[in-house]
Amino acid sequence: MSIKAAKRREDYLPPDFTVDHIDLKIVLAADATSVSAVLQVTRIGSHERPLCLDGEQLTLKSVEVDGIAWTDYQLSETALTINGVPDSFVLSTVVEIAPAHNTSLEGLYLSDGAFCTQCEAEGFRKITYFLDRPDVLSMYDVTITAPQDEYPQLLSNGNKLASGHNDDGTHWVKWQDPHRKPCYLFALVAGDFDLLTDEFTTQSGRVVALELYVDKGKLNRGQHALDSLKRAMRWDEEVFGLEYDLDVYMIVAVDFFNMGAMENKGLNVFNSKFVLADSETATDDDYFNIESVIAHEYFHNWTGNRVTCRDWFQLSLKEGLTVFRDQIFSETFNSPLATRIKQVKVIREHQFAEDAGPMSHPIRPDEVIEMNNFYTVTVYDKGAEVIRMLWTLLTPEGFKRGMRFYFDRHDGQAVTCDDFVNAMQDANDIDLSLFKRWYGQSGTPRISIAQHGDKLTIGQHTPATADQASKQALLIPLQLEMVPSNGQGESVQLTVALKSETQEVLLPVSSGNRVLSVNSGFSAPVIVEQQASLAELGSILSFAKSDFDRWEASQALFKQAMLANMEGDASVINETAQLMAQFITAEQRNLALLSEVLIPPSVESLVAGLEQVNVDALLNSHKAVYKRVAIECAPMLEKLLAALVLRDEYAYTPEQIVQRKALNTLLKLYSQCQDTSDMLTTLFTNADNMTDTLTALQAAQLGNQSTFESLMQQFEERWQDDPLVLDKWFALHATTERPDILARLQLLMEHKQYTLKNPNRIRAILGSFAFYNTAGLHLSDGSGYRFFTDHLLAIDPVNPQVAARIVTPLLSWRKFDSDRQDKIKFHLTRILDNPQISSDLFEKVSKSLA
Ligand code: PHE
Ligand code: ZN
Repeated sequence: MSIKAAKRREDYLPPDFTVDHIDLKIVLAADATSVSAVLQVTRIGSHERPLCLDGEQLTLKSVEVDGIAWTDYQLSETALTINGVPDSFVLSTVVEIAPAHNTSLEGLYLSDGAFCTQCEAEGFRKITYFLDRPDVLSMYDVTITAPQDEYPQLLSNGNKLASGHNDDGTHWVKWQDPHRKPCYLFALVAGDFDLLTDEFTTQSGRVVALELYVDKGKLNRGQHALDSLKRAMRWDEEVFGLEYDLDVYMIVAVDFFNMGAMENKGLNVFNSKFVLADSETATDDDYFNIESVIAHEYFHNWTGNRVTCRDWFQLSLKEGLTVFRDQIFSETFNSPLATRIKQVKVIREHQFAEDAGPMSHPIRPDEVIEMNNFYTVTVYDKGAEVIRMLWTLLTPEGFKRGMRFYFDRHDGQAVTCDDFVNAMQDANDIDLSLFKRWYGQSGTPRISIAQHGDKLTIGQHTPATADQASKQALLIPLQLEMVPSNGQGESVQLTVALKSETQEVLLPVSSGNRVLSVNSGFSAPVIVEQQASLAELGSILSFAKSDFDRWEASQALFKQAMLANMEGDASVINETAQLMAQFITAEQRNLALLSEVLIPPSVESLVAGLEQVNVDALLNSHKAVYKRVAIECAPMLEKLLAALVLRDEYAYTPEQIVQRKALNTLLKLYSQCQDTSDMLTTLFTNADNMTDTLTALQAAQLGNQSTFESLMQQFEERWQDDPLVLDKWFALHATTERPDILARLQLLMEHKQYTLKNPNRIRAILGSFAFYNTAGLHLSDGSGYRFFTDHLLAIDPVNPQVAARIVTPLLSWRKFDSDRQDKIKFHLTRILDNPQISSDLFEKVSKSLA
């Protein structure tokens, strides 16, 4: 394998040619699929350059220009360059590919015997020679031929035009997509699925057929996905006036998939994890995630497909915006508090770490070796926070006006992030030039607050990052809540638009007897440096109007107690435990808030927030504080738990979700200080749903080894033939803190359901281990690093995207003690020294060692 060269955003040039129309004829066979492509090519501008098409792992069979066999071309590993072409012509190529040997899951591959494609970002070049870049928009006609018995369903984008049978037992279907699209939105699926159908009538009265394709026998697990789709379709009409634009919307669930799902025009392909659910097999979180991913892919039809990206550096144009859209959709149909907390945890636990590590990049990156490495929490989730700040600055009405203007101006085009912000600006008569810096600047801004009476001096500065030494001031909408410190009187909320390094703000009411809750609601993706005192945090926890801010205060309290305890200061622990106990007594009826507040920040989020980490001390301190809080709260926990265990038959309703969540939080906490074996066993045995089942397992995992082992064994016996459910079991084992964890992982990887070819399995075992078993990965003798690296080296040649994603926790080695640093570096060097290393791993590991 050879390493790709880096590409720079600034080097963008428009394409030399465009393809107005492509006619694809694909004859499917696992070992030798034939792909004939007829391209209507037009030169752009006046130049003499040849036509250079991308193509990888293709066996070229023939080339014709305007129907004449063509020999004036060069072929390389990655390109077909055709010389001497006219300004406008028809290019016909035939290639052969081998989907059965495609383990990268990019291009055309087999998933459990079904053919499917994944073309984003640069996978179409593994199907045929083409201008594989998002600013080439074409009309598609696609004819698929395959054996009728094995592959009764042949799907592609758009509308079915015709179909027929051949004498040799094959059949064919011809599809036509009436919308121009970039090739990354092309899709093809061929297989034998069960089909769930429904209908949606759009606001203008058109009837859209909805079709959900799932593995045979799984039909009864598809209803929630279909219901979610209908909710998303209605919501986008009501909130943004956006209507679906084809007669059919198809979703196919496959087991082998690198990511969550893909928004191919009219034919979404989903990781089955984000489609299949019933109460027995899916948790409330799974239901939530399915709804949000279904909505996300649906929303892409406008933000991504109708208006797409000019080049891949602009990825956040569609992803940041679409994540934001799915977030506000989720906030409407679920608890806004729980939903916002989930989002902020992703930023704190993963995005801040990315900003602080060797892969740091702005939401619109400047330099990329492997595009697949840039489907990141920065581009997606920080990108969504940047859009959210626009929503705040422009107000929802102004933002919606901007969206309408964006589609009026750019429908059918491939555009940039700047084009998006310009549309927002022009629709609202506001200058957003300062705001645009968020797109080009990486790193997490720090906010400092100094208070002199009723005047605040607010400072902002962004520390240097691996990719950028100097930073500028940003436009930051910072929300503040002035909370009455003793609960007497109303809170006052204000939003300050920070524009320079320091800024003075006059508070709207007297600050006497008030505590400031800064970055209220997480109004901006920043870190607030100012340390509130325990008393102040106690006031915010008790009296803030914003429930989110109350949760923030609880997390700050836990964190301070954990850090102080590491330094041997026990007073913070005591005070924190007392504040938590007071809180639980005062708020015993507010289960929604209780169930969030009483979860301490994860070890991993603490690691992400620290520059230097003493792993062993942190792990101990985390446990000590959690236990101390449990002891202090025990009487109340007992009382609340007794009231919680009696419940109705499972339903995915807001009331029940809150109850199950509270049961989870409280039982985990209570199990820190009490032997809960009997309770957990009873809960596990009586549970009529996966949420409670997992609650029993998680609570046992945290402290009750023998109960954990026996319940886990029962779980395995019950679900051993259902890999999607078994992933939960794999992940629980992989995240358990135990001295023999590596031997345990080895056993898991010998399980009959484990295969290195399925990304869900790898993520469940090795991904969970690397991201969420800090104790195991960082075992002091370095055996965790060795074990993990050995497996990374085995995965890389099979599926480099997955290898590069889970290597992440090793990249931040600089945080750890010098002995661990040396050990991690040793193993990263082993990866880098592998002559077969993929571009994916190379980019990340070489940056980390630089
Ligand atoms: N575009 C997909 C999404 O965010 C993600 C994806 C990227 C899937 C690359 C596959 C490959 O919805
Ligand atoms: Zn997306």
